[in-house]
Amino acid sequence: MSSPGPAREQAARLREQLEYHNYRYYVLDDPEIPDAEYDRLMQALQKLETEFPELRTPDSPTQRVGGAPLAQFDEVVHAVPMLSLGNAFSEQDVADFDRRVRERLGVDSEIVYVAEPKLDGLAVNLRYENGVLVSAATRGDGSRGEDVSANVRTIRVVPLKLRGTDWPEVLEVRGEVFLPHAGFEALNERMRREGGKTFVNPRNAAAGSLRQLDSKVTASRPLTMFCYGFGELSDGPLAATHGASIARLGDWGLPVSPELRTVHGVSGCLDYYRELAARRAQLDYDIDGVVYKVDDLAAQERLGFVARAPRWAIAHKFPAQEELTVVEGIEFQVGRTGAVTPVARLQPVFVGGVTVSNATLHNMDEIERKDVRVGDTVMVRRAGDVIPEVVRVLLERRPPQTEKVALPTQCPVCGSDVVRPEGEAVARCSGGLYCAAQRKEALKHFASRRAMDIEGLGDKLVDQLVDKGLVHDPADLYGLGLEQLAGLERMAEKSAQNLLDALEKSKETTLARFLFALGILGIGEAMAANLAKALRSFDAVRRLRLSDLVEIKASQAKRLQETLVALPRDALAGAKPYEVIAERPGLKWFSEVHWHLLLEKFGSIDALLAAEATAIENSPKTKIDGVGDVLADQIVTFFRQPHNREVIDKLIDAGVHWPEDTAPAGPGTSPLAGKTFVLTGTLSRPREAIKEELLALGARVAGSVSKNTDYVVAGEAAGSKLSKAQALGVAVLDEDGLKALLAAL
Ligand code: IVH
Repeated sequence: MSSPGPAREQAARLREQLEYHNYRYYVLDDPEIPDAEYDRLMQALQKLETEFPELRTPDSPTQRVGGAPLAQFDEVVHAVPMLSLGNAFSEQDVADFDRRVRERLGVDSEIVYVAEPKLDGLAVNLRYENGVLVSAATRGDGSRGEDVSANVRTIRVVPLKLRGTDWPEVLEVRGEVFLPHAGFEALNERMRREGGKTFVNPRNAAAGSLRQLDSKVTASRPLTMFCYGFGELSDGPLAATHGASIARLGDWGLPVSPELRTVHGVSGCLDYYRELAARRAQLDYDIDGVVYKVDDLAAQERLGFVARAPRWAIAHKFPAQEELTVVEGIEFQVGRTGAVTPVARLQPVFVGGVTVSNATLHNMDEIERKDVRVGDTVMVRRAGDVIPEVVRVLLERRPPQTEKVALPTQCPVCGSDVVRPEGEAVARCSGGLYCAAQRKEALKHFASRRAMDIEGLGDKLVDQLVDKGLVHDPADLYGLGLEQLAGLERMAEKSAQNLLDALEKSKETTLARFLFALGILGIGEAMAANLAKALRSFDAVRRLRLSDLVEIKASQAKRLQETLVALPRDALAGAKPYEVIAERPGLKWFSEVHWHLLLEKFGSIDALLAAEATAIENSPKTKIDGVGDVLADQIVTFFRQPHNREVIDKLIDAGVHWPEDTAPAGPGTSPLAGKTFVLTGTLSRPREAIKEELLALGARVAGSVSKNTDYVVAGEAAGSKLSKAQALGVAVLDEDGLKALLAAL
């Protein structure tokens, strides 16, 4: 059957729409239509193509879901070989590279380079003919690679058809296919759930996903790509410089890194290196260094190649983040909340730029999963400022007669029972504040800079105060006298007096700091600030009820009320009535907290059963950003404990105070209420300080840019967030702009 003209036209129209929305969604991160609408367009195209198979072209968006499995990959001969890069491991190596470039070019002036991240994935060549993706190949040995076209077609950021019209007839672009961290975690989580083998790192996962004979498998893996170079180009170079050529790729809808910068000379290269190294841990993907490329393409041509690498580019590598070492012991530490955490004592090893001799093993599930034992050779990873961790054991190097690690039944510090509730990963010491370890950690947290900021009360001093029985809870700190302090080790009278002064000074604080200092489970600094902002006074915090924090909407209340009266009475009197309720249609949202809330409100099951839906409905008096049901329960539980109430009263009696804000909460009182800010780049003051200032004015400070962002404050070397703000048309302020905005309030 041959397809009629209208069907052909309709298919072309649908394809164009789908490509456009795909670009909005995956490249610009700014979808225009809801997912369901996109799905409908896709289904319409699929239906047409099923009816008229000859309409199914390789550039059709339907091909992104993957096709029939291959028996093997075909070989592809690269029109232009895919080369590798020379490496620089030190600043001197970079200076030498720059000198060689200048000598060869015979110039004295500074060379302009493009600096970009060295992505840790797989190099791929994309071939477009007349703007249509016709093939994709791996690097292979540089001359011949594997044809992975079917797989690359499933990668959403890769356009099947280029935007615009001014592309050359043959355009080969090269780039790195990789898996972002979030995608990697999700993939491994899925593999674990399905009982499959997990991947060691994102690079291996990306390689495993790209080299799949069944492209349906590749389609289910969230691969992405950035383009950074060129192969065959039918009309010669795309522009006079590398930077401008890459910009053209961006215009045609190809994904390019937002981190690309033009820099001048060695110092420009090294500044970029340091700046990116500092942000490495915050990137959502792995990079193992930066690449510097001579920007001027005519100069590149003159410099040429040596062996299999260009003379005009070099990779400046970061220190390795993974190294091998041996586990010398496994100990258990007790934290502030009683969590008993296994820690591996390691043979010291240099990794991620520092010497590491301890690594967290997180919890017993992790130990079991990784099967770490004393004597094992392990891979240790330290990324950025993140705590070093054991990634995996090299089983082939395990010595004979090792033993599995067992969770201690007694707390190594206080001897109380260690309990591990069924289904939970974390084991806890049941000693509470009887346990010196928990007391010490709670006190260290209380005194810390972002909490009560008690200068001079360091970890060693807290240990002594607790060990000598001088301090049991935070309130005891304010009862300490000069003689007691001066009697401690390494404590002269002068420093004892300084500490007393610091304690006195710390009494004047803010509600947010005080709430944070109390160490309520789940209340970090930002949440404490939200609570303080929403509730204004401490009494309001103390009087908190679940109904202030948990919401049951009118429609939910109606469904709940109908279900409650229909349920057999004894189902509600069982051990976990909330689970029975949540199994009923439309009540998935119902949780233990909601059950507490209802009992708190109605007092008994009978009173609840007699209630009208309108009585069950509650509208929260205080809407607090980010307080979910579990957190709500933890907050309310904390303030119910007599012991906690006693400590708080003692602290207030001792003179701890903060300016009480008696103005009613709500919009109007905060000049920036409802405005969302994102901070990015290097700013002249710590980001935290600016954030605090904005929060105090009622603004929200978010971590990522979306179309709900009102302002992006961009400092030096702002990267992807700035580009995203520009793409979305979000207002961008520099620091002076921010100053002006605040001054005008
Ligand atoms: S340019 C002719 N730029 O590193 C030089 N390569 O060690 C072509 N890589 O095979 C390479 N990020 O897989 C270039 N921004 C980047 C890169 C990059 C990662 C990889 C690529 C290449 C290998 C060379």
